[in-house]
Amino acid sequence: MAESDAVSTAVPGSTVRLCGRSDLDPGAVRRFDVAGLRIALVRIGDEYFAVGDRCSHEDFSLSDGDVWADECELECAKHGSTFDLRTGAPCSLPATRPVPVYQLVVEGDDVSVVAP
Ligand code: FES
Repeated sequence: MAESDAVSTAVPGSTVRLCGRSDLDPGAVRRFDVAGLRIALVRIGDEYFAVGDRCSHEDFSLSDGDVWADECELECAKHGSTFDLRTGAPCSLPATRPVPVYQLVVEGDDVSVVAP
């Protein structure tokens, strides 16, 4: 089961701090629960990406999968679909629908998500 950090409420458009920049190693993914949303936060090099944690094929946690750094994709551990971290689009079957992409703000040491 993926590690999860929960934030129970967030005003839409506000920023919610997820973690510090150094709390996530390059190539790692970690799950956060923000106001009922499941978010998979990924770090590739010094860039951070946030997509919906729930695979669009079945309800499976994408933060249990592997980060494909060169492709900028996240692989679902259940059936192997990968998702583009920039767009949320599926790059391989069996998933055919995108996952949501969330805007991040990285300031100083903080990585925050803009609440949708
Ligand atoms: S549950 Fe993710 S590819 Fe099937």
